[in-house]
Amino acid sequence: FLFALMIAVVAYLIGSVSTAVLVSKKMDLPDPKTYGSGNPGATNVLRSGNKKAAAYTLLGDAFKGLLAIGLARCLTTWLNLPDYTIALAAVAVVLGHMYPIFFGFKGGKGVATGFGVILAMSFWTAFWVALIWATIAFKFKKSSLAALVAAAGAPFVAFIVIQHPYHPSWGWSLMAVGALVIVRHRDNIKRMQAGNEPDVGTAAAPAQ
Ligand code: G3P
Repeated sequence: FLFALMIAVVAYLIGSVSTAVLVSKKMDLPDPKTYGSGNPGATNVLRSGNKKAAAYTLLGDAFKGLLAIGLARCLTTWLNLPDYTIALAAVAVVLGHMYPIFFGFKGGKGVATGFGVILAMSFWTAFWVALIWATIAFKFKKSSLAALVAAAGAPFVAFIVIQHPYHPSWGWSLMAVGALVIVRHRDNIKRMQAGNEPDVGTAAAPAQ
């Protein structure tokens, strides 16, 4: 259990690297926490008008999930650790992204990082979840709605369609990650109910 906990701490630290803030700083863009939704994530960085910065943010955030779970899987195999080590790391890296220790605990909503986690667990689960996201995003033009549906659907894809018969804890961890992602979208849900959630790619109001 101690090893599993240590790996979870490392995963949390990996998640704590806020790609959106670092990419924006490097590319001389304003801090994403100061405009649009205020969320340090790819969707909001896109509102700066800089597509490249948004793409780097997306890739960087997804890579954190991929790296943390890739590492956890390798160590679990090498050290013959219990399977829940990977499940703990999955929740930890997403929590790191949402509440980063290096950035005043003000992080993102966990969509890209969660996707990286899924990709490192099972390619086909990631494929179907990405397809769900893309279908909703394309049809309704709302990144947040696509994220909500994908987050709710991911554990079911993992459990039912793809099946992790030998890794039930992974499916449960995706349920926890999905729930966290949904909770982090509560402002988006309110905006959608009020009918003023912006379409994906719409420029943000100037930085306050
Ligand atoms: O990935 C986050 C996205 O689902 C919503 O982002 O900036 O519109 O709150 P945002």
